[in-house]
Amino acid sequence: MWARAARVLRRVALLVPLLLTALALLLLPRPPQYSPPARLPSPPPQPREEAHIQNSITEDEIQLNSINQDIEEEPRLPWFMSGGEQRPWHHDPHARLFPEDAPGDDRIVEQLTYTLPKDEEVPVKKILLANGLGTWGVAGGRTEFIRNKCPVDACTLTADAREAANADAILYKDHHIPFNVKRPPNQIWILYYLECPYHTASLRPTSLDVFNWTATYRRDSDIVAPYEKWVYHDTLFTEKEPERNYAANKTKKVAWFVSNCHARNRRLQYARQLSKFISVDIYGACGSHHCPRADPNCLEMLDKEYKFYLAFENSNCRDYVTEKFFVNGLQHDVLPIVMGARPSEYAAAAPHNSYIHVEEFAGPEELAAYLRRLDEDDTLYNSYFKWKGTGEFINTYFFCRVCAMVHANARRQRNAHYTDVQGWWRDAACTRTDWRASSRDPP
Ligand SMILES: *[C@@H]1O[C@H](CO)[C@@H](O)[C@H](O)[C@H]1NC(C)=O
Ligand SMILES: *[C@@H]1O[C@H](CO)[C@@H](O)[C@H](O)[C@H]1NC(C)=O
Repeated sequence: MWARAARVLRRVALLVPLLLTALALLLLPRPPQYSPPARLPSPPPQPREEAHIQNSITEDEIQLNSINQDIEEEPRLPWFMSGGEQRPWHHDPHARLFPEDAPGDDRIVEQLTYTLPKDEEVPVKKILLANGLGTWGVAGGRTEFIRNKCPVDACTLTADAREAANADAILYKDHHIPFNVKRPPNQIWILYYLECPYHTASLRPTSLDVFNWTATYRRDSDIVAPYEKWVYHDTLFTEKEPERNYAANKTKKVAWFVSNCHARNRRLQYARQLSKFISVDIYGACGSHHCPRADPNCLEMLDKEYKFYLAFENSNCRDYVTEKFFVNGLQHDVLPIVMGARPSEYAAAAPHNSYIHVEEFAGPEELAAYLRRLDEDDTLYNSYFKWKGTGEFINTYFFCRVCAMVHANARRQRNAHYTDVQGWWRDAACTRTDWRASSRDPP
């Protein structure tokens, strides 16, 4: 009784600033993009049915969002950033979600801020995980979507093969696993790869033209699943003055932690060449320095002792940039030197001015000369750390995005499939030399 009265009072209190705002807006000339006046409080939520539910964002949240947009000057951070509260509140039928909507763009932020119309009942989409729930570390049912407060949460996960006959989407990891049922006409098959083409198995010839979407680290995948995703707090502010001198007290030059000494891109040969011109400490099986992998002090040396870190991938493949760069490199106070994807691909994935690509230099000798220059010029060295504190590496909520995309696809009646998914994945994707020597350009 009292709780209900308090709720009513709270709603009334909420309405006062709203009405004032609405009045003010009526008196003022209309701004070009005027958000619709907030609606009256909604009726109590309907009990949820199995098959049809209301999208989970309540009218209260919509009102709060619109109030805050009017009175706050600083935009609040979106929900997927740490401390972020801004939730999407209006359905955009033209959101750029699919590769053809925004070529060259990973669309992750757009997918995370996509939401369905609030006033519509939406069907719960069933997503079958062909490799089981454990592979993904998720629970079945709607838990994953509710727990993460996905803006589009009308999905359910299952690993039950019997659902293959009626699931809305099937997510396959690495292989096509056949189910002995007839494929429903609108069922979306998604192929997920974590590793690069050298480390993924070939599909059977009969599985080449069955997938509708891909989910990989590649930016032209339908659902891009990168190792890390950097997002600025405000895209207009991509740098600020470093709070400290990142060169202070560092006495050593280049470090590298590495265990595979036979990588296809001959990164070890490059590092050995480099070591002729500047000191390179190679830790692990391929070098003479030792630090046990599990020892946190190893990575701490990068913060305190070394100026540069070789974040060399084991393969030069399109868009292939892993934790070697994002975690060992960027998340320590050291300047990463990268080898792996093309320079333009690093530029698209990394914070502005946060690394040095080996292909910016003719070869190891020239690179070493530049590193020695940086070693002597603290201002120049610190210019590579101006990105720190301007944004963050976000959780990209893979399953929230899968759910949003399955719904969006149905609303748009989009139809797409890969006629040869292996060709897409492998052809011209990797090079054994550096990218300059290979004439292969991304299509
Ligand atoms: C460098 O070393 C000095 C003396 O040990 C210490 O006071 C200072 O905080 C260190 N600076 C940094 C940036 O670590
Ligand atoms: C999915 O792919 C299959 C096989 O390539 C195709 O027949 C079907 O129309 C596609 N469906 C959607 C919803 O894109």
